[in-house]
Amino acid sequence: MSDLDRRAFGRSAAVAAGTLSALSASARAAGSNERVRLGIIGVGNRGDQLLSAFLPHKDCEIVSVCDVFEPYLVPAQTKVGGKATLVSDYRRMLDAKDIDAIIIATPDHWHALQFIEACRAGKHVYVEKPTSLTIGEGKRMVEVAKETKRITQVGFMRRSSAFIQEAVELIRGGAIGKVTSAKCTFRRNEMPMGIGNPADGMPPPGLNWDSWLGPAPKVPFNENRCLYKFRWFGAYSGGQVTNQGAHYIDVIQWALGQDAPKGCFAAGGKYAVDDNRDIPDTMEAVWQYDSALVTYSQYNANGASTNLRGTDMEFRGTTGTLYLQDGFGWEIVPESNRTESVPALSPIDRAGNTKQGRATKLVGKPRGNKGASSTEAHARNFLDAIRKGTPTTCPIEVGHRSTSATILAKMALACGRYLAWDAAAEQVVGDDDANKLLNYEYRAPYQLG
Ligand SMILES: NC(=O)c1ccc[n+]([C@@H]2O[C@H](COP(=O)([O-])OP(=O)(O)OC[C@H]3O[C@@H](n4cnc5c(N)ncnc54)[C@H](O)[C@@H]3O)[C@@H](O)[C@H]2O)c1
Repeated sequence: MSDLDRRAFGRSAAVAAGTLSALSASARAAGSNERVRLGIIGVGNRGDQLLSAFLPHKDCEIVSVCDVFEPYLVPAQTKVGGKATLVSDYRRMLDAKDIDAIIIATPDHWHALQFIEACRAGKHVYVEKPTSLTIGEGKRMVEVAKETKRITQVGFMRRSSAFIQEAVELIRGGAIGKVTSAKCTFRRNEMPMGIGNPADGMPPPGLNWDSWLGPAPKVPFNENRCLYKFRWFGAYSGGQVTNQGAHYIDVIQWALGQDAPKGCFAAGGKYAVDDNRDIPDTMEAVWQYDSALVTYSQYNANGASTNLRGTDMEFRGTTGTLYLQDGFGWEIVPESNRTESVPALSPIDRAGNTKQGRATKLVGKPRGNKGASSTEAHARNFLDAIRKGTPTTCPIEVGHRSTSATILAKMALACGRYLAWDAAAEQVVGDDDANKLLNYEYRAPYQLG
């Protein structure tokens, strides 16, 4: 038990004993001594954003920084006040007894290993989305977090954002009637050269390429496979469906009140962008849920909007459509419902048909609210969970379910067929070949704990 755990345990014992006033006094008295001590693994693009999200919270401090790309270390150390220890091997950070929690912002293929080891080392964990590269890894992450009783938060930060919480409550409360379809879109025209097509070569000075690859197959260094651009390669990422799509599917599953699809179709290809990515530039995935059809459309060779408001998420209800996007907010556009049933078109009563065809009435009210998501709020939620025992908005079991739906789409694309999903067993129904994709063989000596 870490010092912070011991203190938290002491507090819950005090609550159980009914000594609430003593508890508040001790919490107040503890003041700045109770800062949550954090280590961060991976201080690239997202790691740096997470430093900005945690730093404003004065009840935590970043005491250790880890990266296998040495040029990123000192700038991160400077950003957090100049005193954090610097390590290139994350296991040294996990050995440190005075670190309460670990933030993981490494590429997706590292998440499961580092998350599991951090839990086993007694650390609470904030892990970036998508939770894992495979569904099997995510399943194990959930099991280990439960076994070790760790507080976990997955980086689906929309969960801690007031305007998304409001939109979800509206949808779940029936503000747009029964939702039969939800659609999300990732569109960005990356034509013509996309991420470029560099030749394989030597890693840049200060990069430990072998450690960066970790459990992934050994391949020559290529700058597109590495910093930031790894998300365009299937060995390290599920591609944009798990990278961008997972953010949307997370919100959609939450709003639908369902944590898994019944099955998924996916199709797509690399049709136009001329670079060395191995994921599609154009893709559609369709999931069947108990109550609705969910679609993800990816357009990376065209950037035109797909709906009235140009938002990346839309929920089609029987009485209205809710458009949702980070930075845009939410907007409900009411539907018109019928006042008479749909008539049969008749060649001898065209006037009557026209009249009946117009027999509709606007239902619901237009309304909306602006909003942007905040990783700072998501960080706050994680710190509160550690300090006060309140739940996180996206624990690993929730983040894993959202990620799983998108990995299932990646699997359906690879298999080229509909995959029926048994969410309880976390298996594709009656499809041994597809189930082989639930795990992959790690490069020696890496093993999922
Ligand atoms: N929640 C969000 O909105 C959001 C936004 C961007 C990225 N992300 C997620 O954050 C993760 C990182 O993405 P990024 O854009 O920051 O990539 P990045 O390449 O810029 O940063 C990853 C860093 O991890 C380091 N790293 C790799 N292996 C390591 C290891 N074994 N030990 C220590 N450091 C290691 C790399 O050297 C690099 O500096 C991804 O999983 C991505 O999906 C989330």
